[in-house]
Amino acid sequence: MSLKGKKIILGVTGSIAAYKSAVLTRLLIKAGAEVQIIMSTSAFDFITPLTLATLSKRPVLSQFQKDETGVWNNHVELGLWADLFLVAPISANTLAKFANGICDNLLSAVYLSARCPVMVAPAMDLDMYQHPSVQANIQKLEAFGNSILDAESGELASGLSGQGRMMEPEHIVAKVEQFFSTTSDFEGKKVLITMGPTQEALDPVRYISNHSSGKMGLALANAFLARGAEVFVVSGPIALKVSKQAFHWQDVKSAQEMFEAASKIHAEMDICVFAAAVADYAPAEIAPEKIKKSDATLSISLAKNIDIAASLGEKKRPNQVHIGFALETENEAKNAQSKLSKKNFDMIVLNSTKEYGAGFQLDTNKVHVFHASGLSIESEVAPKNQIASLIIDQIKNIPVWV
Ligand code: CTP
Repeated sequence: MSLKGKKIILGVTGSIAAYKSAVLTRLLIKAGAEVQIIMSTSAFDFITPLTLATLSKRPVLSQFQKDETGVWNNHVELGLWADLFLVAPISANTLAKFANGICDNLLSAVYLSARCPVMVAPAMDLDMYQHPSVQANIQKLEAFGNSILDAESGELASGLSGQGRMMEPEHIVAKVEQFFSTTSDFEGKKVLITMGPTQEALDPVRYISNHSSGKMGLALANAFLARGAEVFVVSGPIALKVSKQAFHWQDVKSAQEMFEAASKIHAEMDICVFAAAVADYAPAEIAPEKIKKSDATLSISLAKNIDIAASLGEKKRPNQVHIGFALETENEAKNAQSKLSKKNFDMIVLNSTKEYGAGFQLDTNKVHVFHASGLSIESEVAPKNQIASLIIDQIKNIPVWV
């Protein structure tokens, strides 16, 4: 695929892998992209700005600059100019800055100003890469919707061998090409995603809920956004850090609130993804005051909550797509398939509970997708953002979509 006309900011930071950014620049330019390089000053120790300026055919930037009006805003302009902000290699230091909003150089300021998608390719020694603080920063960036180009395994500059090498430039270019080929396939589409758990109040201080983290729903929301959709999120209480301004975001607590928020916008949606783990029952009555401890046992009467997916499924337009999720512990496939017709879904995603690497709080998942048409596909265990892409790709097999 050609990258003709695509504007890419290539950030280069202080890592031995910075020497590979020369090859990366050449490949991006060769594919037709316009490349603006921003270096951190510590990258100067590994590769010269002159090399990268020559290959990119543009001056390399590393400092905040005043323009002719004396205004200090080149980071904002750059952030608006780019179609993609790619940092390769990204050091542990710059990862930490991006994850925590630290803004002490041009590169980190452009990161905070950029409205375009962000991809980062970590490069560091294997123990650094495995350190929980680095992994936590990587996860934070993923939760912000940034794409992580996972480090590859092999021989490292330290002489050790393991995961930490920057992804090879050829592979990065393939990822960039893939990114641009899918960036607009959902443009103009409105997508509703319900996500997270619901909380059903018992009294003013207690509630009934479940362990849903919202990670799968958020991965889907980010993936739809990256593919050009307008994304409407109705989210139960989640603890993830999210850049909510990229979405139409509505926070709710109970199933009833989630239903009301989703119902209001349902009619204008093209695609609805019901990824929330909605509590099936809620306390029949909410005690007005904190329930006091008295007898040895306490019975709470529960009443069935509204089924959001089933209820909106009854109103589904012929050209609307509804996607459900199922979590089953027995007769998984059969139970999931029966929910397909019961809730008028076009497709249902069965989360495996028995597979290692699949589950509520994890960053990975393994799913089995069943279509109403009979088609089905099973994934491997993979990061939730990859599972999100697989699910979205499956939408293209739904008859109303074709
Ligand atoms: N769902 C919903 N509203 C509910 C319950 C479920 O919108 N009150 C949606 C979920 O978001 C999911 C699908 O329905 O997409 C299936 O959810 P699940 O909990 O597996 O199904 P239930 O119908 O609750 O069946 P059960 O818990 O008995 O397996």
